[in-house]
Amino acid sequence: MKKVMVINGPNMNLLGVREKNIYGEDSLDSINRWLREEGEKLGLELEFFQSNHEGALVDALHEARTRCDGVVINAAAYTHTSVALRDAISAIRLPCVEVHLSNVHAREEFRHRSYIGPVCVGSVSGFGRYSYLMALYGLRSVL
Ligand code: DQA
Repeated sequence: MKKVMVINGPNMNLLGVREKNIYGEDSLDSINRWLREEGEKLGLELEFFQSNHEGALVDALHEARTRCDGVVINAAAYTHTSVALRDAISAIRLPCVEVHLSNVHAREEFRHRSYIGPVCVGSVSGFGRYSYLMALYGLRSVL
């Protein structure tokens, strides 16, 4: 079974509480439980990590290098700011898919730029929790 690390960045621990009109009612735990089941159906074993700290996210990507075959990452706000995450994704040489619950291109201009997009194999944005599922499908096709 291929192993995939699903990484979530800052404020994603507040899903279901924060800006429900944008991010929906689901908690991160409930999305992850659902994803674990969906992943199994796809023959993927999932590992989950969330942090509000940039360095911890870099460390998780380094961990993924030794344990996993691919990564799904919602870097949240760090998507739009972090050279460190971009370099980490580039360094680990694993296929990574960028995910966003909301359609970042339909929102403020500062969300239109992704530092990590160019080093990912693809990105999915705007489909709520289904963005993660679509990322898993895409990732499975390249693994
Ligand atoms: C987000 C979009 C980001 O712009 C924002 O900073 C987030 C969540 C999303 O999933 O839609 O925290 O990554």
